[in-house]
Amino acid sequence: MSEATLPEDFDAEAYLDLNPDVKKACVEPAAHYLAFGHKEHRSYKRGSDKRSRFLDRIGSLENFVWLLNRIPGYMAPALHLSKPVPAQLDQDLVRRVMAAYRRAYAAFDAGAGFWDVWHQSLKKPIHDALSGSNIDAAAQVLRDPASSPFFWGFDAVAKAPEGSQEPHQHVLSRLNSKVDWRELYALWLCDSLTSFAEIVGARRVDYPEIEIDKTLGGRDKPFDVDSMLDAVEREIGVEISFPNPFPEELGLRSRRGIIGFRSIQSIYQGWRIAQLSNGNPDFKVMEIGAGLGRTAYFAHLFGVKNYTIVDLPLTNAAQGYFLGRVLGEKEISLGGESSSASVRIIANSDIAMHSESYDLIVNVDSWTEMMSDVAREYWDFARKATRTVLSINHEYNPHTVSDLYKGVNGVRATRHPYPMRRGYIEELISW
Ligand SMILES: C[S@@+](CC[C@H](N)C(=O)[O-])C[C@H]1O[C@@H](n2cnc3c(N)ncnc32)[C@H](O)[C@@H]1O
Repeated sequence: MSEATLPEDFDAEAYLDLNPDVKKACVEPAAHYLAFGHKEHRSYKRGSDKRSRFLDRIGSLENFVWLLNRIPGYMAPALHLSKPVPAQLDQDLVRRVMAAYRRAYAAFDAGAGFWDVWHQSLKKPIHDALSGSNIDAAAQVLRDPASSPFFWGFDAVAKAPEGSQEPHQHVLSRLNSKVDWRELYALWLCDSLTSFAEIVGARRVDYPEIEIDKTLGGRDKPFDVDSMLDAVEREIGVEISFPNPFPEELGLRSRRGIIGFRSIQSIYQGWRIAQLSNGNPDFKVMEIGAGLGRTAYFAHLFGVKNYTIVDLPLTNAAQGYFLGRVLGEKEISLGGESSSASVRIIANSDIAMHSESYDLIVNVDSWTEMMSDVAREYWDFARKATRTVLSINHEYNPHTVSDLYKGVNGVRATRHPYPMRRGYIEELISW
């Protein structure tokens, strides 16, 4: 077998840039090329013009580009973590969250599915703290979710359980194992933020059929998060903020707070709900399976304040604490409380006796994650409680949201790809 020889135009610096895994491994570039690179057909020199340099970069991003809505014609900024949060006067809120949790858990029927069982066992120490009598222990888990798996499964501010990876790291390194996942994550966040700016009309949409050169020209420009958000604010006339009541939330740094993936999704969802409200100040929304409650926060910011969340007991506790902190304790009411606050958080067990009507029921990334019979129970509830459902879900699991309504007499639906995240479908279902 013939020995490999180094090409005359081999460029060691370019080889490292184009092959970030080699750079990371601190291997001598020429030796790596001779031993492996030539067999793997790795690029070893930069293209000579703008277009081929650009294609080199896109090539190095590999399958990751399929997550994006546009070619990344910019450099993404480095990610940051939210800072430690000063001591809080939150004892009343903690007590309320504990009381609501105990009440919800007493009525909780474990065994309905993956969420209920797996999460309840993974999060046993959280359960113990919230259902015990030590307020400081409960406050500790509520204030610092990044140090435990409390939010695992519904928010990224969480410590991965033994043997698991941070969820974005998991997704991104599966798509591209060469580039550091944080770099890809930053690009993904910038892309999502750009989508949001385009959707609200703060930015003209890219037109790749004739504007590719514009993209190539902007290749090395840094992405300016705050300028993008300034434009959004000008367009929608609302001051935006991304509250970080918890330390160690990872995301883009901005004047308005650290912006992680769930926040960008939620700002769109809150805006979309406000759009569907048509400016009606009494518009009444229920969200089933609301994660941390970030969408409720943004809907509130955009003027939709009558908002009820239904969720499992542990997620309820996270929502109660988060929304109590970011909206104010008086703005929320928790399960079992008799307050007239307009943002309410109730337990899934309360739904059987719940007879109120809503202008809109929202479900995001949740109905297709539940057991199909649980999703159907919520669907049957929604048929009685509202005439319009907004669903944003993937269709990867055996049952889909359209299975619930297809062929049902008098039910209409519009469907389009969810514009903020590939692989999700947005459906507006009415009757
Ligand atoms: C994947 S998370 C999505 C959270 C949020 N909608 C988002 O997109 O960030 C699934 C959500 O469904 C909730 N959930 C799971 N089973 C549920 C049930 N039986 N009743 C109500 N909510 C449930 C979880 O607690 C969580 O809030």
